[in-house]
Amino acid sequence: MSKDNKVKIEVNGLNLWYGDNHALHNISLDIYENKITALIGPSGCGKSTFLRCLNRMNDLIPIVKIDGQTVIDGKNIYDKDVDEVSVRKKIGMVFQQPNPFPKSIYENVAYAPLKHGIVKKGKACDELVESSLKKAGLWEEVKEKLDAPGTSLSGGQQQRLCIARTIAVKPKVILMDEPTSALDPISTEKIEALMLELKKDYTIITVTHNMQQAARVADYTAFFHLGKLIEYDTTDTIFVNPSNKKTEDYITGRFG
Ligand SMILES: Nc1ncnc2c1ncn2[C@@H]1O[C@H](COP(=O)(O)OP(=O)(O)OP(=O)(O)O)[C@@H](O)[C@H]1O
Ligand SMILES: [Mg+2]
Repeated sequence: MSKDNKVKIEVNGLNLWYGDNHALHNISLDIYENKITALIGPSGCGKSTFLRCLNRMNDLIPIVKIDGQTVIDGKNIYDKDVDEVSVRKKIGMVFQQPNPFPKSIYENVAYAPLKHGIVKKGKACDELVESSLKKAGLWEEVKEKLDAPGTSLSGGQQQRLCIARTIAVKPKVILMDEPTSALDPISTEKIEALMLELKKDYTIITVTHNMQQAARVADYTAFFHLGKLIEYDTTDTIFVNPSNKKTEDYITGRFG
């Protein structure tokens, strides 16, 4: 789309079925490094399904069948020799409902890096927890109470804790499925500002029902309808000058 952009993820002819339900139809698109890509479209159009294809989370659902390619950094993550756990480590995910573990703030961030052997207990781990909480814009609010349960934080703080937890395993890509839909406007604003900060280091793909949010944060926007990718372009083009009538109808609120 733009010559300056580096492709991070190349999706080619991706199809997905839940049993007999053909939920994604021949999706092909390139996702660019250090950009925010928004996935929009009416409920049930396949946004979350598509997002989960990018870190093989759909593998966890037994009735799912997938074909096509999802090439990340030059490697198809669906190749036989690829281990899905390593994929999920590289491609982090943040969900709609903040879902901290029932553990302390510190342990929420430290758990996965310790488990994956990214750091050892002690100073290195303390530093990783601190830097991750700083990158997630939460450090100042929690530095005096790292032993408090993660669940004792507000919803917006919990979501930033989940982002810190995702960052702590040093992913390349962060997937976000409606990360602000359970949050108040001020927390939403903080997450949006954080996304703009994080894209300097990560490639972000986010699902949103909030058109203003897509317009505010996303560099690229993909519009899905009934399991098909209808239009994909720069966010400006999608919102100002879409080429498909369905896209225009959706973004102007005529359906969905
Ligand atoms: N775990 C599942 N098992 C079976 N079918 C599913 C599953 N998850 C999604 N589907 C089906 O796949 C289709 C796409 O659903 P998906 O959740 O991807 O849509 P969405 O665009 O994220 O919708 P929403 O905006 O409501 O979150 C729907 O027909 C849905 O019923
Ligand atoms: Mg969804």
